[in-house]
Amino acid sequence: MNVKQANLQEQRKQLPIAKGKDAIIQEIRDNDVTVLLGETGSGKTTQIPQYLLESGVSGSGMIAVTQPRRVAATSLAGRVALEQNTSLGDLVGYSVRFDEVSSADTKIKYVTDGMLIRELLSDRLLSRYSVIIVDEAHERTLRTDLLISKLKTILKARNAPVHVDRKGKGRASALKANPLKVVIMSATLDAEKFSKFYDGAKILYVKGRQHPVQIFHTASGQSDYVDAATRTFFQIHVDQPPGDVLIFLPGQEDIESLDKSIQVYAARLPAEHMAVLTCQMFAALPPGQQSRIFNPTPANTRKCILATNIAETSITIPGIKYVIDTGKSKEKRFVARDVGSGFDTLLTGDITKSSAMQRAGRAGREGKGYCFRLYTEDAFQAMSATSDPEIRRCSLTSAFLQLKCLGEDLEELDFMDKPDADAVQFALKILFLLGALDTKKSLTSIGRHMASFPLEPPLACVVLTSKEHGCTLEILDIVSVLSCTSKLFFDVSDDRDNALEARRKFRHSSGDHMTILNAMRAYQEIASVESKGARRDWCRKHYLNERTLMEATKIRDQLRVACERIGLDWKASCGENEVAVLKSLCRGLVHNSALKQPDGSYMQTTGRSLVKIHPGSALGDRKADAIIYDELVFTTQIFARGVSAVPKALFAALPIFNRRGIS
Ligand code: CDP
Ligand code: MG
Repeated sequence: MNVKQANLQEQRKQLPIAKGKDAIIQEIRDNDVTVLLGETGSGKTTQIPQYLLESGVSGSGMIAVTQPRRVAATSLAGRVALEQNTSLGDLVGYSVRFDEVSSADTKIKYVTDGMLIRELLSDRLLSRYSVIIVDEAHERTLRTDLLISKLKTILKARNAPVHVDRKGKGRASALKANPLKVVIMSATLDAEKFSKFYDGAKILYVKGRQHPVQIFHTASGQSDYVDAATRTFFQIHVDQPPGDVLIFLPGQEDIESLDKSIQVYAARLPAEHMAVLTCQMFAALPPGQQSRIFNPTPANTRKCILATNIAETSITIPGIKYVIDTGKSKEKRFVARDVGSGFDTLLTGDITKSSAMQRAGRAGREGKGYCFRLYTEDAFQAMSATSDPEIRRCSLTSAFLQLKCLGEDLEELDFMDKPDADAVQFALKILFLLGALDTKKSLTSIGRHMASFPLEPPLACVVLTSKEHGCTLEILDIVSVLSCTSKLFFDVSDDRDNALEARRKFRHSSGDHMTILNAMRAYQEIASVESKGARRDWCRKHYLNERTLMEATKIRDQLRVACERIGLDWKASCGENEVAVLKSLCRGLVHNSALKQPDGSYMQTTGRSLVKIHPGSALGDRKADAIIYDELVFTTQIFARGVSAVPKALFAALPIFNRRGIS
């Protein structure tokens, strides 16, 4: 064993969870379901799967560990592969949407909760797995809740006592030979609810190692948290002893802007101060850059990590002594049904008390820590204790469709918290409009095909419709960009005129979708002939996000495979005929459409709200009779973003205008 590996093994032994190792293994061996509660950083996510593998509890089956976020899944898999001294994809792998690294040898797989739900479609009992660990259960994402619910039925099927028939032969013996163990892991104190749902499952507590954290609040509210965070960071940097800083921000844009401003000011500091090394951490961060945050901080340097709430409980970063908490996060919300949209929107809002406590806790892992909250003590007291589970506040469309494919109904399944009846009705309506369900609420063959795509049902519908119009090639390019985690035309507020000029050549008079297609086509041409460096320069020159284009290309290739699986010819191209493309988009975005009113405003076809075309749209001032859009954003008004003008006549043929209703 080399020195590095010996060190890693020593680190494993020092984790708080290591003390309870034998007892935990024994409990999981003895019980079908175990709830494991332990403070962030105690070693749950990285160690439990290894313990179960090494002790033989998982037998010949695989261990799945679910994560709500893809960055967590990929980065934790990397760490555990290292600890097992294997390359990622051998013994330890991961599977997230549009990206899988695993092989026939894989025994421990980190997956997003959504990917495991998807696997259910082809393997109803998840029979490849002998252990399923539902991690970060306290986050209560919609998919985690769905999984918790489905696992209850799967456990019954796989672990049922063998019934002996009259001839004395055991039935279901094939299944009995493949029993399932479920471990629910959580970082907060809500274990009772999980235990109760699984008929009183055993709860195990792991004691963490938490040092005191001194908390400071601001005396008054801060209107600009990026500015407040910059100032607070430099106060720490200039006045306080060494120790790394972790700053919690709502999203990628804030992280990038704070990073810039910290670097600008750090460069102006007198030489006697330590150097500053910034690292970013957010959901869309590419795997290559994730490992940076775990590298040891160089000598005479202060590391400053800028993260979203991903660093709250999913990922523990060593060396943190100071936390700066803006008190904000982005939360998935399904915006009011009267506004009507099949998609969720990310809204920045105040965090909960529980999040605030978790964030502060990150400063006290290795010694006494300090947490600077950029909000007042009163604001903290006014925060709600915990957040609603997603099932109570997110779009249910995609989940509903997947359940239908499993022969189940959202209304009837046993959930920890039941979805809201209105939200269920809304999902039903969208699925009906898309043609996934018929008037009797039964799944159609189109619906089944929609579910086979790793896309939200509206976009899957667009892809399927492209077949009728012979433009699948074009539609896949557009849908791939829309499915990316980052925007193609990123925000350019500081260099607006130059960016508009550079992007002008992609602009299409019909609006944003064809504009995306033009940019994607141009990039593919460049990518096929030019070197990596030239490609990068080209993107920079045209103010295009290269990361989005690379991701989109990867997604497009996967969507092509998904098309092949159902016999859809992805090579079918409509050339320059944009009407075919718009027709396909119109079909899937039927609920995201609006008609021009006599006074020039736009009113939704599905709701009664007025929407405005986003000022950044390629449509510009053009007043079309009818528009479709990707999403609504809420600022001072309701803006439609990702907009295309469509001939009004296209709507007439859509089911929304022959309201038969749903029986
Ligand atoms: O799941 P839990 O929060 O209980 O802890 P964990 O994620 O298993 O992390 C255990 C330890 O591994 C922490 O001290 C992390 O800092 C460390 N770790 C690491 O050094 N590099 C990673 N990529 C992931 C975890
Ligand atoms: Mg964990």
